[in-house]
Amino acid sequence: MKTILLAGGKGTRLRPLTIHTPKPIVPIFDRPFLHYQLDLVRQVPEIDEVILSLNYQPRRIEAVFGDGGERGPAIRYVVEPTPLGTAGAIRYSAESLREPVVVFNGDVLTEIDLAAVIARHRERKAAATIVLTPVANPSAYGLVESDANGNVQRFLEKPSPDEITCNTINAGIYVLEPRTLDRIPKDTPWSIERSFFPSLIERGDTFVAYVNQGYWIDIGTPEKYMQAHCDIMDGRYQAAPFAGAASSAHVSPQARIEDGVSIEPPCFIDSGVVVKAGARIGPYSVLGRDCHIEEQATVEGAIVWADSRIAQQAVVRRSIVGRHCHIGRNATLEDGIVLGDKSVVTDYSRL
Ligand code: GDD
Ligand code: MG
Repeated sequence: MKTILLAGGKGTRLRPLTIHTPKPIVPIFDRPFLHYQLDLVRQVPEIDEVILSLNYQPRRIEAVFGDGGERGPAIRYVVEPTPLGTAGAIRYSAESLREPVVVFNGDVLTEIDLAAVIARHRERKAAATIVLTPVANPSAYGLVESDANGNVQRFLEKPSPDEITCNTINAGIYVLEPRTLDRIPKDTPWSIERSFFPSLIERGDTFVAYVNQGYWIDIGTPEKYMQAHCDIMDGRYQAAPFAGAASSAHVSPQARIEDGVSIEPPCFIDSGVVVKAGARIGPYSVLGRDCHIEEQATVEGAIVWADSRIAQQAVVRRSIVGRHCHIGRNATLEDGIVLGDKSVVTDYSRL
């Protein structure tokens, strides 16, 4: 069995972070994001190949995952010449498939029994099975209504407030029969959410809903990207290095923490990080490889990517700092600032 990971979007809502780092490989702590999805795929030994459906900066993604390595499954890269949308990309990647395929949106972090989803698809002899998750506000997602028998009744992408009739949304995981893919036009931009799923309902195909109650988040905005880190640190989603060690301060043995530094859990400090005397690393901070946090600087509830420097007495709170940035002395960044790679913030600036 094969899996297609849709990972070709431009990641516009995560800009400027995604200017040099496409969304599928933005780090969650010290691991490029798609590793978390590959871990999920590995739950199902029957899946022997992962097709990464790419368009935006494909070479950078290939450089991270290669052929998938010894732990498998094998990874194959399919790069669209132009973006074909979510359904067009599936059609383009699935050209030779003769068996059902599992499709993932390449930006969801979730706890799910994938084998159970596949089993339900087979039991119900479905044309398509879709995983749903309950959320407080469906407006940023695809709203999906289903009946008591687990059949999808309605699919409405990005509903306006007056169109919201339930709290279940498309979690971005599907099992699709190859015969249904013939209905997606070739080499034409086509949306699985706006065209393909509504067409299944119209035709009366067996379109099954699998409601999952496990953890779920789409990491595609700065707020959700930060939230995913907090949730892992709090143990709401189990992942290394916080699995079984929720709420702890994870400090790499290869980090250099000077005397007189305050480190408040939960937080993550990667290898090569240097934290100088008098600095404060507050709760929910994430410091990427080789960052320097200088004397009396404060980082709190912020994510700082690799190789950045936070100079003396600077403050970075509830913000995201890209790679190779320099935050000058006494500068303050607070509440939702997102800096792209190589940003320079002048001493005493306030953002
Ligand atoms: N190959 C390829 N080509 N991939 C694409 C393309 C494309 O043209 N467009 C989008 N993708 C990939 C993105 O990289 C992402 O992994 C996935 O498809 C979904 O695209 P997003 O842009 O993140 O969509 P969304 O978050 O607004 O909405 C989708 O996800 C929600 C759940 O997170 C929809 O599927 C919603 O219905 C769903 O609720
Ligand atoms: Mg998304």
